[in-house]
Amino acid sequence: MFKDLRAGTKFLILCVVCLVLTSVATYALLLEKQIAISFARSELVGSKYLSFLRPIYAAVLGAQTNTALGVRQNGSEAQSIDSLLRADIETAGTLHIESAVKSLASALHYLDTSNAASISTDDYLTALKNLREVAARIGDDSKLILDPVLDTYHVGNIVVARLPAALEVLGQAQLLTRAAKVASDPSERMAHLIAFDTLLRANLDEIANDLRVAQRGNPDERLKQVLDPAVTSFATSARTYLDSLRTFVGAATENAAQADMSYAAAVTGALAAWDIAQKQLDQLLRDRIDGLSRQRLVSLIVIGALGILALLTALLTYRDMIVPIRRLAELANNIRETKNYGLRFKHESRDEIGGLAAAFNEMLGELSTAREREIMSQTEIARVSRLTTMGAMVASIAHEIRQPLAAVVANSQAATRWLDRKEPNLEEARAALDGIGDNGHRANEVITGISAMFKKNSDRRVPVDVNEVVNDVLNLSRGELRSRKIALHMKLASDLPRISADPVQLREVLLNLTMNAAEAMNTTAENLRALGIASMLETGGVKITVEDSGVGIDPKNAEQIFEAFFTTKTTGMGMGLAICRSIITAHDGRLWATPGNSCGTIFHVALPTGANRDVDHTL
Ligand SMILES: Nc1ncnc2c1ncn2[C@@H]1O[C@H](COP(=O)(O)OP(=O)(O)OP(=O)(O)O)[C@@H](O)[C@H]1O
Ligand SMILES: [Mg+2]
Repeated sequence: MFKDLRAGTKFLILCVVCLVLTSVATYALLLEKQIAISFARSELVGSKYLSFLRPIYAAVLGAQTNTALGVRQNGSEAQSIDSLLRADIETAGTLHIESAVKSLASALHYLDTSNAASISTDDYLTALKNLREVAARIGDDSKLILDPVLDTYHVGNIVVARLPAALEVLGQAQLLTRAAKVASDPSERMAHLIAFDTLLRANLDEIANDLRVAQRGNPDERLKQVLDPAVTSFATSARTYLDSLRTFVGAATENAAQADMSYAAAVTGALAAWDIAQKQLDQLLRDRIDGLSRQRLVSLIVIGALGILALLTALLTYRDMIVPIRRLAELANNIRETKNYGLRFKHESRDEIGGLAAAFNEMLGELSTAREREIMSQTEIARVSRLTTMGAMVASIAHEIRQPLAAVVANSQAATRWLDRKEPNLEEARAALDGIGDNGHRANEVITGISAMFKKNSDRRVPVDVNEVVNDVLNLSRGELRSRKIALHMKLASDLPRISADPVQLREVLLNLTMNAAEAMNTTAENLRALGIASMLETGGVKITVEDSGVGIDPKNAEQIFEAFFTTKTTGMGMGLAICRSIITAHDGRLWATPGNSCGTIFHVALPTGANRDVDHTL
């Protein structure tokens, strides 16, 4: 079905399919980029809300030391709590941390009091646990630790899980300096210390490991330059703190000043490392968003350029191929209907269509020339045919009126002689003049008859008695036969039906045959000269035979004798038999010759009783 469609329709379908496919591909590409950008933006949101946890950590952990924490955090813990409580609304459903933050807030009620001694250990530990849970929740909701990208995943892990866990362990370990609050038994305290030591050192190793992996995906080594020193510094201060804590627990003294100082340094180091890690994470995420936006823009530009190129190609193809081919087809149809080979395909270009147009026009030129030649040759054929017909007619008339003209001349000479006598014989002169008149009439009839022969549909046929025509002919040629000393033998059938014929033409046929017979006997001995004319009945018509005792016909000329201008006589035209056969054929009859019974020739004329009237007369 597709192959039956017009080229323009196929082209349109192809363009639409291309457009749809390109649109789908573009949409898929943009969607993919948009999803990646949204993912990174969500992570940025998570990172922002994680930063609100640092002042709270500073406040909670600071409550367990008499040494001031040397870290300055943005905003107060109360403002941070407020910001976190608004997170669900402000992030439009990205974060769902309200209930966790509320639990944290209730655990932090002691922060309102300035007396650190009044803080219950349970509240303190719950606050630390809640802080870590909020951090983890923010990480989950904002997909920070679902991020599959190498550099940000591991930095995110440090920010979301590792450092909050380290801070929690630091906070828990610091309780050992408050002996009464944890365990009064020294060995139990040592056991706690070993557990915290193991946890913290494992945590420090994990942070170092995450950082190492993150740096692999960070070719510009910014992480190494910025984050590495902060993490190392924190690890050093954390280990120092663990050492001083061991000294404190081992000495079993009440003086925790050294441990407090190391604790403050470790917490400060952790918060500083967290701050730097988070800023690096933000930077990486922003870089990624910028990269994705750039890629999206480049993709759009490339696809747009391809689209414009495709559109341009489509337009050019339509303008330079589809339209000219359609015009060519229309022109071909027009030429087929009008046969106007003078039309031309107007298209100027050097491409294949231009070549096609030139070839088409060249073909039209040749067709036009051939057509002109054909018309000319048809005209020429018609002209030649008319001339041939005219020539044949003239030749026939010339042949047939020779005899009446000769009679006219002979009669006029006779009349002159009768009148030139001393005593003019008026009787004979009148007879000769009558003869002139008769032969003049005959000549006229002959001309009319022959003209009729060459006109189609001329209707001069009447029922004819063949014997009457034979007698007419003999009356006309009696003088000629007598002068040539030819004996006449007649055998006419009496019961012949009339036939439909032109009597003048039939008379000319029999007269020609009689004259030929007489001429054929020129060299025959006078006593042997005989002309036999017979008529007889035949199936479906009548037959007339004209027999002579002349020289006969050379068998090699048997058929040629009926051709126009064939003659064996020095003064002959060779038209007699050609005219005869033409007339007889037009009457649906047959004319042929056979050798005579002893010598000479017999000409046979067979005519049907009813003849066809619509026949061309050609010689
Ligand atoms: N009765 C006949 N016997 C022998 N030959 C004949 C006879 N009738 C015709 N022919 C041959 O046929 C030829 C053609 O005859 P046709 O009547 O057509 O022309 P033609 O008699 O030669 O000249 P014309 O045109 O003056 O009659 C003759 O030249 C002659 O050779
Ligand atoms: Mg003749």
